[in-house]
Amino acid sequence: MFQVNARLLYNKRIKKNCHEMALSAPQIAKSALPGQFINIKVTDGLEPLLRRPFSIHQIYRQDGIKILYEAIGKGSKALARRKSGESLDVIGPLGNGFKLGRGPGAGGRRHVLVAGGMGTAPLVFLAERLAEAKNQKPKTKTLVLLGARTKDDILCEKEFKELGCEVRIATDDGSRGFKGYVSELLKDELNAIRYPLSAIYACGPTPMLKEISRISQEYDIPAQISLEAHMACGIGACMGCVIKTARNALRATEYEYKRVCKEGPVFEASRVIWD
Ligand SMILES: Cc1cc2nc3c(=O)[nH]c(=O)nc-3n(C[C@H](O)[C@H](O)[C@H](O)COP(=O)(O)OP(=O)(O)OC[C@H]3O[C@@H](n4cnc5c(N)ncnc54)[C@H](O)[C@@H]3O)c2cc1C
Ligand code: FES
Repeated sequence: MFQVNARLLYNKRIKKNCHEMALSAPQIAKSALPGQFINIKVTDGLEPLLRRPFSIHQIYRQDGIKILYEAIGKGSKALARRKSGESLDVIGPLGNGFKLGRGPGAGGRRHVLVAGGMGTAPLVFLAERLAEAKNQKPKTKTLVLLGARTKDDILCEKEFKELGCEVRIATDDGSRGFKGYVSELLKDELNAIRYPLSAIYACGPTPMLKEISRISQEYDIPAQISLEAHMACGIGACMGCVIKTARNALRATEYEYKRVCKEGPVFEASRVIWD
């Protein structure tokens, strides 16, 4: 974990209130793993006081990191106003990301990435690392299911296709692809698929992740899910971001609290206890 003054390389609106930012942060870029995040002090002043967490979206030209973010509140709107050349106080990489080649199903050949809205951000980095692994033997395949409200809200379709992923779209209003939630599309795909799947990796709104956890149990496919929580410190000190998890996969009655910022944000879906 590093705390750095990262130079802002660019900050641009890509659609609606969705922005992409690249920061020069060599130490973070060199050690970051898919699913990890950074905690940004979005202004130089005291307002807002708390840092804001954002997933690492991609590594940019080896020494930089990209984030993809929605300007929705005070902090993210302040971030959208920052200009290239300015410096931002950034801590990262933080948390535990997706387990590649480790954990249940992770060493398999066929992966499914399920993205809901801004949950797409960390999955591009994950798809890049899976694509690198793909060049080794045995060959792996990656299917990406992208969920969005409308066709205008779909994110990163081109990036996934350029990485050789097979992409399917779900929109809530049916303006493109499957009409309905991306979790329903996942069920459709699992029913249609004729080859064994290794693992599901998902990021998106909490109700979507809850449904994906249920589906992964129904179909007996291991899933890794990236959770969001309101964070105060972001480094495991305040216990403000805890979730309930099963202590042991076989005895779900015994539970323990885990910090989304420290033990997560990525968890094995089968361990998360949804209240
Ligand atoms: C590990 C992690 C990774 C994240 N990655 C991304 C990312 O890649 N791109 C992105 O756009 N956002 C991401 N978020 C969410 C992002 O941190 C919040 O949107 C941001 O902090 C909101 O700050 P704000 O001051 O703009 O909004 P606020 O004014 O604080 O809140 C605006 C709205 O956003 C909701 N909100 C605030 N913080 C969170 C949060 N942590 N999780 C869910 N809802 C929240 C509030 O309830 C409110 O409805 C991530 C969050 C976490 C915990
Ligand atoms: S935000 Fe403080 S422990 Fe997670």
